[in-house]
Amino acid sequence: MTCRIALLFGALFFALPSTARNTELRKTTSRVPPVLAPNCRYVQIPLGNISADNVDFRRTRRNVDFNSPKDVTKFFSSCLDPQMYEDPDDNTTKLIVERNVTIHGILCRPERPVAAQDRRIHLMVHDATYDKSMWHGLGILEYSLADALASGLGGSYTLAIDLWGHGDSHGPTYPDPWQVLQPPFHVEVLHELAVRLRTNQHGLWMAFKNVTYVGHGFGAQLGSYLIEDFPNDVDAFVGTGLPTGSKMTPRPSEWMFAPAHSTDPKYQDQPLGYFTGAVTSFLDRRNILYGGIYDDDLAVLDFLSQDTITGGEACWSGSYLSSEWLGSAFSFKGQACIVAGEYDRIACADGPECKERLRGVCSKVFPDASSCKSNVLGSTGHAWMLHRIGVKLANSVRSASALGGSWGNLCSVIS
Ligand SMILES: *[C@@H]1O[C@H](CO)[C@@H](O)[C@H](O)[C@H]1NC(C)=O
Ligand SMILES: *[C@@H]1O[C@H](CO)[C@@H](O)[C@H](O)[C@H]1NC(C)=O
Ligand SMILES: *[C@@H]1O[C@H](CO)[C@@H](O)[C@H](O)[C@H]1NC(C)=O
Ligand SMILES: *[C@@H]1O[C@H](CO)[C@@H](O)[C@H](O)[C@H]1NC(C)=O
Repeated sequence: MTCRIALLFGALFFALPSTARNTELRKTTSRVPPVLAPNCRYVQIPLGNISADNVDFRRTRRNVDFNSPKDVTKFFSSCLDPQMYEDPDDNTTKLIVERNVTIHGILCRPERPVAAQDRRIHLMVHDATYDKSMWHGLGILEYSLADALASGLGGSYTLAIDLWGHGDSHGPTYPDPWQVLQPPFHVEVLHELAVRLRTNQHGLWMAFKNVTYVGHGFGAQLGSYLIEDFPNDVDAFVGTGLPTGSKMTPRPSEWMFAPAHSTDPKYQDQPLGYFTGAVTSFLDRRNILYGGIYDDDLAVLDFLSQDTITGGEACWSGSYLSSEWLGSAFSFKGQACIVAGEYDRIACADGPECKERLRGVCSKVFPDASSCKSNVLGSTGHAWMLHRIGVKLANSVRSASALGGSWGNLCSVIS
């Protein structure tokens, strides 16, 4: 078993000349978990039994031996091919799963008190292979959008969660990566959470009049499924880095994934079907998720702190990277904001065509939204919140929020 920490020293040795700018990273990597701002704390939200209509992979995929690392890795890799799409509704072998779920997250309250009628919350959902710390700059405050949103007179509550099966949200034994951890199950969890945020049944705080969903990558995709199935759950939807399958989308051979328990002792309890970047795949990950202007230290920290993606998450509709999933018009009537990075190889990266494609998402998918804006962020790859533009954006949110009032959603701050 190769330890990711051993690599840490190798990687840091080469990546980091001893400049002052690196001091923060060293402190951050050596302190686990990262220190939170005084207005933020770790929370657990018990949701009770959640049930969902999943796909029965273990029964329908007869040609896959789910106990064979080789078989399972081969099947998983095939699901990273954006050309592969299967309508999940075509499959007759459905499986109802029911699990008792407790979601872990980081809750920040506004820095300044807000009147009860103005209480809003941003529910923030991470991408595949990340956890809640993605919205907290992996622990580096200047990158933390979750902190920026809570700042100033216009501050909002923020709740960055760990999806079930990720980060700290897994219970005593990890959920089945094929049968349980699929988009329909995640959506039922998010639905239950949104309902509780609105109705004050989360046992933690008060009811929120206004819930804004902020999701990135896989988290944005889940958010779009949520507002398709439950259009009244949230008031605003901010989807960044949505997989839109273009000619730039990475090929499966560019993603070197391995069963998570073989890559890092912290994943040793995870059953076969949880995947993470192979120990040697730092450059692959950086090539796929980074581009434009970023600090290489962050890309190293990103690699070292990565979470997992499961078979059920990658394979549910054939491939989660296929563009076909974004085919139908939603009846969602709130605000929508669609964002991608200029060099985002999952959501964008094909120049002027990308701007058009995002506009197309607004007109085709959100015809009934009260507003739908789209934006292509310059000089950034997929993980924009961990690039320099993430710091700039957090600063824009802070200055807009300092003045109080309602500054709208992220798309209004960016433009
Ligand atoms: C879920 O688990 C919690 C704590 O482990 C327990 O208190 C609760 O009764 C369980 N709920 C159900 C529906 O089983
Ligand atoms: C769906 O059903 C088809 C044909 O019955 C089968 O070949 C395929 O493997 C199934 N797909 C999934 C995701 O279970
Ligand atoms: C919760 O789910 C478990 C597992 O399916 C089941 O055994 C239990 O009866 C359920 N509890 C409730 C209160 O629905
Ligand atoms: C909800 O909050 C967002 C900002 O997060 C704002 O743009 C929107 O107008 C609010 N919606 C309602 C219905 O109050």
